[in-house]
Amino acid sequence: MSDEPLVLGIETSCDETGVGIVRGTTLLADAVASSVEEHARFGGVVPEVASRAHLEAMVPTIQRACDTAGIALADVDAIAVTHGPGLAGALLVGVASAKALALSLGRPLYGVNHLASHVAVDQLEHGPLPEPCLALLVSGGHSSLLRVTDITGGEGPGLGVDPMGATIDDAAGEAFDKVARLLGLPFPGGPHIDRVAREGDQVAIDFPRGLSSRRDLERHRFDFSFSGLKTAVARWVEARERTGEPVPVADVAASFQEAVCDVLVRKALDAASSEGIEDLMIGGGVAANSRLRALAEERAAKLGIRVRVPRPGLCTDNGAMVAALGAEMVARGRTPSSLDLPADSSLPVTDVLAR
Ligand code: KG4
Ligand code: ZN
Repeated sequence: MSDEPLVLGIETSCDETGVGIVRGTTLLADAVASSVEEHARFGGVVPEVASRAHLEAMVPTIQRACDTAGIALADVDAIAVTHGPGLAGALLVGVASAKALALSLGRPLYGVNHLASHVAVDQLEHGPLPEPCLALLVSGGHSSLLRVTDITGGEGPGLGVDPMGATIDDAAGEAFDKVARLLGLPFPGGPHIDRVAREGDQVAIDFPRGLSSRRDLERHRFDFSFSGLKTAVARWVEARERTGEPVPVADVAASFQEAVCDVLVRKALDAASSEGIEDLMIGGGVAANSRLRALAEERAAKLGIRVRVPRPGLCTDNGAMVAALGAEMVARGRTPSSLDLPADSSLPVTDVLAR
């Protein structure tokens, strides 16, 4: 048997109860229980409902992960848990469960950053992350460009994960969800827009590219803005409805998706080129988008930049990503977190490991 560390990771920052088990960079189990259907009729995640669902799902999901991996809890060498950012009550369920496991098993606890986990998960699929690499992190709550020199966070905040830019308003996933709602598509909207857009024409409507004018680029070269785009889509749909003509949902979805992906890819490649970085990693729920993946591949190839994107199931929230980052903490000999580790709903992306 390998002597690489066996790590169990727990993720509860939003509506997915995720428990992953890895040995080093090998994925052994990735059990996810989602409460998404309980939120769908509200058009967004209801924090209290999510917390309660985590409580109910936690023990069965841990059990399912252990069964799949063919291990007993006593075999685990370390416990990792998302301690932020995310919904406070939801995070607390994961943090309390992880502390209980760490304490009862007598194993070290690593409180890790959800956003860094979205980057680290790629190691399970494509091997060690090149350092430095440029990470485009696009999820329901965040959109950032990060220069990553040490995914475990280096020797202090900002040293291992350095933000080059971020959204100044809506996150990319949030824009997908809001536009989907406008088009009468179910929550969460990203996968539905992705699906519907395949039948549409991406150049049918010329929607705006946020923060891309010459003037904006002077101040916001690596930042994103999606709220103007969302408003432009709303105005376009309203104008069409006023005429009594049907809304061409597939064309609107495809043109909107193209506007988002065009800006994300252009800025990510500009950031990588400006730093002389040859590896672009794309992570977070929106990285599951088929057009984003294709466009990034196509444009990066022309610049000699390699693209790494985890498979869609590892892009959306899961426990394997937390276990992957935890295993990297163990491998690099990082000091475990204290057992009085708090949940931190607004944890900055630069704080990769809790003290
Ligand atoms: O990373 P994630 O699972 O949760 C957060 O940390 O926020 O990301 C969820 C977001 C949602 O906004 C969802 O609509 C979006 O990722 N998403 C997608 C796709 N799959 C999920 N957006 C576009 N295309 C997709 N295929
Ligand atoms: Zn996430």
